[in-house]
Amino acid sequence: MKSAWLSAPLLAWLLVTTVNPDTACASFAAELERHDGAVQSLLQRMTLEEKIGQMQQLNGAGGSVPDSLREAIAAGRVGSILNEVDIKAVNELQRIAVEESRLGIPLLIGRDVIHGFHTVLPIPLGQAATWNPEIVREGSRMAALEAATAGINWTFAPMIDVTRDPRWGRIAESYGEDPYLHGVLGAASIRGFQGDDASQPGRIAACAKHFAGYGASESGRDYNTTNIPENELRNVYLLPFRAAVEAGVASLMTSFSDLDGVPATANEFLLRQVLREEWGFRGLVVSDWASIEQLSIHGLTADDRESALAAVSAGVDMEMATETYARHLAQAVQSGELEAAVIDERVGNILRVKFALGLFDRPYTDTSRLPPTGNPEHLEIARLAALQSLVLLENRGTTLPLDAASTGTIAVIGPLADDPYEQLGTWIFDGDPGLSRTPLQAIRETLGDASRVRHVRAMDTTRSRSTGGFAEAVEAAAAADAVVVFLGEESILSGEAHSRADISLPGNQADLVAALRQAGKPLVAVVMAGRPLTLANVVDQVDALLFAWHPGSMGGPAIADVLFGREAPSGKLPVTFPRMVGQVPIYYAHKNTGKPATPETYQHIDDIPRGMPQSSSGWVSSHLDAGYTPQYPFGYGLSYTEFRYSDIAVSSPVALPGETLTVSARVTNAGDVAATEVVQLYVRDLVGNVTRPVKELKGFQRIRLQPGEGRTVEFAIGPDDLAFYDRNMSLTTEPGEFHVWIGGSSESDLRTSFTLVDK
Ligand code: NOJ
Repeated sequence: MKSAWLSAPLLAWLLVTTVNPDTACASFAAELERHDGAVQSLLQRMTLEEKIGQMQQLNGAGGSVPDSLREAIAAGRVGSILNEVDIKAVNELQRIAVEESRLGIPLLIGRDVIHGFHTVLPIPLGQAATWNPEIVREGSRMAALEAATAGINWTFAPMIDVTRDPRWGRIAESYGEDPYLHGVLGAASIRGFQGDDASQPGRIAACAKHFAGYGASESGRDYNTTNIPENELRNVYLLPFRAAVEAGVASLMTSFSDLDGVPATANEFLLRQVLREEWGFRGLVVSDWASIEQLSIHGLTADDRESALAAVSAGVDMEMATETYARHLAQAVQSGELEAAVIDERVGNILRVKFALGLFDRPYTDTSRLPPTGNPEHLEIARLAALQSLVLLENRGTTLPLDAASTGTIAVIGPLADDPYEQLGTWIFDGDPGLSRTPLQAIRETLGDASRVRHVRAMDTTRSRSTGGFAEAVEAAAAADAVVVFLGEESILSGEAHSRADISLPGNQADLVAALRQAGKPLVAVVMAGRPLTLANVVDQVDALLFAWHPGSMGGPAIADVLFGREAPSGKLPVTFPRMVGQVPIYYAHKNTGKPATPETYQHIDDIPRGMPQSSSGWVSSHLDAGYTPQYPFGYGLSYTEFRYSDIAVSSPVALPGETLTVSARVTNAGDVAATEVVQLYVRDLVGNVTRPVKELKGFQRIRLQPGEGRTVEFAIGPDDLAFYDRNMSLTTEPGEFHVWIGGSSESDLRTSFTLVDK
């Protein structure tokens, strides 16, 4: 891939950027306000049936417009269509809405454009590993441009469900475990989809989902119950949504899940109190697919009629796929059970978004105004995103990078080395495997001479139990100078409804690695997966371990760039990797407990003497068998150089209320290659009205340093960074001592402190 498609400054900007979360663009929110008058006058002209029609989202018919749909739209019974990507059909649907319905209200055309359209970016969890809001924004901008060619004007992304459970299949669609990282990247994605002016061609409305708490599904089983105390809800799960609203997101989608006994789709506390009253959100709220109908399955309501009333009263503006609103709301208004004003409020939210998107002025899509999908610039954005998402977990004896000139032959092994579809990951309805460049192709291109690369698939799928292909793989490994084995999970093993209870490498992959180890050659494992995996049984078997997530269309060239040292890896984990699944949930921002584990206090099962009497004293919060530390912590990732951190300093040891401090540290590239580091800032509030986490991410910067170069990196810490919801659910900043760390992972120990005083 020629990077000449991007100008040198743009390339440089994408590779190294400094985060400024405050640049979130709220212009869409202002645009929503601007149309209040037009919305009110349109509402006055609408019948009750037409209003309820706007609240209905129906599934498209896959490229055609059946008579039933035509009639429904012409009669004003449909406000939105989802899952229609045939541009002719979409323009025809819009024509019917605009020309044949009484009031000519255009349609919202929704689609899950989760991590790309035809060109596929890394899964969102992989994008989070870039810690680069600019590449996330660029990726979403590109995805919007491509989706717009199909007439789509509304994506159901980003998913900003904080999750601390890698068993949950949808962790792949999330930005991981941290609310701050989620907030920054979610806002970046929203800016990418919507741009500064969402009514321009190629811009589409974003949808922050799933509001709220879905990531806490019990045992990681999808659609499962969540129980989240309000304080934790506000301090963790709601923060990214607040950031999304501040960034001007056009819409929110409710969650399928039950939150403390009230399913999110009927949860007035979430939808009215928090979202509308506290945050002042003016966009639209859509249900998830059939989540209104499911309220009775949850056991909250007795039937569809009650479900419709519960959802509309709680604040759901539009119903996705099912038709409980269409069937029951009009009668409820006529009988006086539901106030007409509630309907007006809901419909107003929908119309406001349609006006702000400019759909009344430009309902049709003119594809000649948009670039073709899968073009070289888009593929280059996908390559850069994949490149920056790669996390180097192990590199013993500098096994990596491989020297393309001196490594004579390479054995490329494994079921995921050359699979254009599986590298794309979950939720890629429109992804084009024809655009994919696989690792095998890219390794072959790098080495030039085809005879220098031998590929053995070894297993049919990652789940195969057969060892039939092992002998050939071991023979190829023994004959090669280096071995690169591609392991992981196929796309179908993560994503919606694809949770796992055992998150180790499926099938016989660990045995394959053990067999390859016997060949005695440098062994590099590249893992493609939609979630953190428990890798304890392979980390000691391999010389280097590169975690590639599902890297998307350009995963192959990105992986080859890192394997052969054209670029040093710079990804950092956006989520903790457990040693064993039984440690879940394990995350860096945990509470201290009254009996925290330390190296001095922890006792492993193997060290317990025979006949030891039971006692609670001297024992700490940990697992006897798994310890208390993860396999790899949040924020971790190696480079081909060593970054040294020193000279941490704070501008003042004492801060007054409202004051902003500067915390800085010196970062030096102590190795001999240029590389990019994600410098991370963590804070701990030592004493709080409610107990505070042992560390919380409060800032990060990607910096590029030449060999030997050092730089002082500065972070501002203001009152907002220290604020938390207290036991009365007030957002507060309390005086007292704060610890601050700057480092290359959440386990960094370079620390300073300051004290916040009253006056
Ligand atoms: C169900 C999923 O939960 C949601 O994320 C998605 O946007 C909708 N289906 C529409 O496909």
